[in-house]
Amino acid sequence: MTSLHGCTALITGASSGLGAEMARQLAPHARALILVARRADRLEALKAELERSGVEIQCHAADLGDAAAVERVLEAVAKSGVKVDFLINNAGLGDHGLFEGSDWQRVQAMLDVNIKALTRLTHALLPGIIRSGRGAILNVSSIAGYLPMPKMAVYAASKAYVTSFTEALRGELRGTGVLVSALCPGPVETEFGSRAKRPGEDDALPAPDFLKRPVEQIVRDGLRGLERGRARTIPGLPLAVMMFLTALVPIFILRPFLGIGARNARKK
Ligand SMILES: NC(=O)c1ccc[n+]([C@@H]2O[C@H](COP(=O)([O-])OP(=O)(O)OC[C@H]3O[C@@H](n4cnc5c(N)ncnc54)[C@H](OP(=O)(O)O)[C@@H]3O)[C@@H](O)[C@H]2O)c1
Repeated sequence: MTSLHGCTALITGASSGLGAEMARQLAPHARALILVARRADRLEALKAELERSGVEIQCHAADLGDAAAVERVLEAVAKSGVKVDFLINNAGLGDHGLFEGSDWQRVQAMLDVNIKALTRLTHALLPGIIRSGRGAILNVSSIAGYLPMPKMAVYAASKAYVTSFTEALRGELRGTGVLVSALCPGPVETEFGSRAKRPGEDDALPAPDFLKRPVEQIVRDGLRGLERGRARTIPGLPLAVMMFLTALVPIFILRPFLGIGARNARKK
């Protein structure tokens, strides 16, 4: 790790999966880590584990779906005097099933966490990141953001927002020294799949094993992609090739295939 050495990183969704692994991989190099998620016990356990490497750690238990809680995190960080120069917008959630059967609270949480909190944290922290002259923003998107996804309609649309927002910011920040990148993983085994699954529904992320990558690799590739100045990182060659080819196919050719699973689901 080169440019991220000595960083002060705020990581959302640090209580499990990719976010916790981001903290683990950054800890030996970072000056300070600020861990945010709802489950305080998980954050405290991670803090105890990582403090051994000498990094300073703050934990903030907060529901990022609650705009007031997001403001409280920002206030607490500002009050602590720690200057964030690396923002990792990783917290996110999905929902698998037909939109008509979705629970509104969950839809709202996806919009609030995947889009609104990510945008607010970026807006609040970006001026300081630019001033640092060496800052970075890593937004965790998904390959789901590349195409509309029936049965994950809102989630895929939220990730399309994340990728588009990241690309636009990258354009705006060219020449400032701030690195901006989107990490676009395919299926990876974390708590995400079981949480996106509705009671009584099929597996939320049925995917062939050759497309799955370990959490450690996803995070390593994402951090490396950011440091190398890549706009987007899709971890794993087979998936990267698949997404490259998919991007070459016009949407009118893909459209008839997109709804097949959803139509079958309604017939059941
Ligand atoms: N797993 C996959 O297959 C996959 C594929 C592509 C992209 N991604 C993306 O990767 C990111 C990380 O997901 P993951 O796979 O690591 O899943 P995960 O293990 O379920 O982790 C999600 C994290 O987000 C946090 N979070 C969720 N809702 C929150 C809320 N309302 N307030 C605060 N924190 C919240 C969770 O913490 P608490 O529950 O403690 O609050 C948890 O730390 C997400 O953005 C996801 O969309 C995942």
